[in-house]
Amino acid sequence: MKGIGFYEHGGLGVLQPVEVPDPIAGQGEVIIRVEYCSLNHLDIFVRRGWSGLNLPKPHIPGSDVSGTIAAVGKGVTGWRVGQRVVANPGLWCGECEYCLRGEQSMCVHYGILGETTAGCYAEYVKVPARNLMEVPDGFPMEKASAACLVSLTAWRMLKRAGLRPGETVAVVGAGGGVNTMAIQIAKLAGAKVFAATGTPEKMERAKALGVDVVVNYREEDWAKAAWLWTNRRGVDVVVDNVGKATWKQSIKALAKGGRIVTVGATSGPEAVTDIRYLFTKQISIIGSTMGTAMDFKEVMGLVWEGKLKPVIDRVLPLEDAREAQRLLEEGKQFGKIVLEVK
Ligand SMILES: NC(=O)c1ccc[n+]([C@@H]2O[C@H](COP(=O)([O-])OP(=O)(O)OC[C@H]3O[C@@H](n4cnc5c(N)ncnc54)[C@H](OP(=O)(O)O)[C@@H]3O)[C@@H](O)[C@H]2O)c1
Ligand SMILES: [Zn+2]
Repeated sequence: MKGIGFYEHGGLGVLQPVEVPDPIAGQGEVIIRVEYCSLNHLDIFVRRGWSGLNLPKPHIPGSDVSGTIAAVGKGVTGWRVGQRVVANPGLWCGECEYCLRGEQSMCVHYGILGETTAGCYAEYVKVPARNLMEVPDGFPMEKASAACLVSLTAWRMLKRAGLRPGETVAVVGAGGGVNTMAIQIAKLAGAKVFAATGTPEKMERAKALGVDVVVNYREEDWAKAAWLWTNRRGVDVVVDNVGKATWKQSIKALAKGGRIVTVGATSGPEAVTDIRYLFTKQISIIGSTMGTAMDFKEVMGLVWEGKLKPVIDRVLPLEDAREAQRLLEEGKQFGKIVLEVK
């Protein structure tokens, strides 16, 4: 089959058309004929690589698939060829202590489609049947693909932050894929949402998503603005997956007893924490990754109902994967960039 992948880690230039054998469904697995594949910042990290990441080459990235079932492996029940599906991009063993607790994203063997296995920048992709979810009739397949990874991540993250109705949330970088879902989930939960983003156009798009107050972080000290917005109290929850560039401000923006929740570090992992703020304000730092099988069912149910709307910046053909990653790397997007594969 044809796809886009890389033979060595590096810059955008390593991404190229590749031809690899069609995947074969093993026990409990299915093959999906890919229609759409959405980008995540993860795709960039995987392309650049990190020490200890030993992937067979060529590696095909891509975690967010929507498409139709092309083949069903042994032992798979309840699924048939031709069904329209998406897949939970998390991969878990089902047997370790954490899986037995239902905490799949804490699995000791946890992986992500396109990170630890061949992904969906290709005509076909192999996934465990237990990861599948049927896409309701009439639901657009590009939106289905755009929803998966970021909705799952944002859902668990705000659950772990213990967000309650009436609380205030600050989202750093409204245009990020995870953050476009975090904003909507926080609003759905009855919170008031403050957001910081990088351009006037993105400010408008953030408002359209339901953000109560938005500032341009290139022109304003967003933490101070959040502080003033809450009458010098601070916000209850900060969503910060930007990391090094914003962490200090995020800690400052928190109210006493506030929680900062992180799922990533786009700008770099080694942020400075002034510990005095932690104990004087009695702040909690909460880490979160992906989500459980149940989280996926819950949040995708809200997507199918239209209560959460996947935000798509643009759809490009698979051949433009390099351009798509360039746009994401440069932060040009608001929401998801989707590749059309069919
Ligand atoms: N642990 C997990 O399970 C998990 C899951 C998903 C993602 N992640 C991680 O979370 C991060 C976000 O992922 P994503 O796919 O949502 O990324 P994305 O779509 O590329 O969004 C990143 C956003 O971060 C904001 N940003 C970047 N630099 C900034 C700065 N200096 N100041 C303020 N905002 C800045 C930008 O927001 P504006 O567009 O508003 O400027 C940008 O759009 C990545 O590091 C990713 O690896 C982790
Ligand atoms: Zn496990």
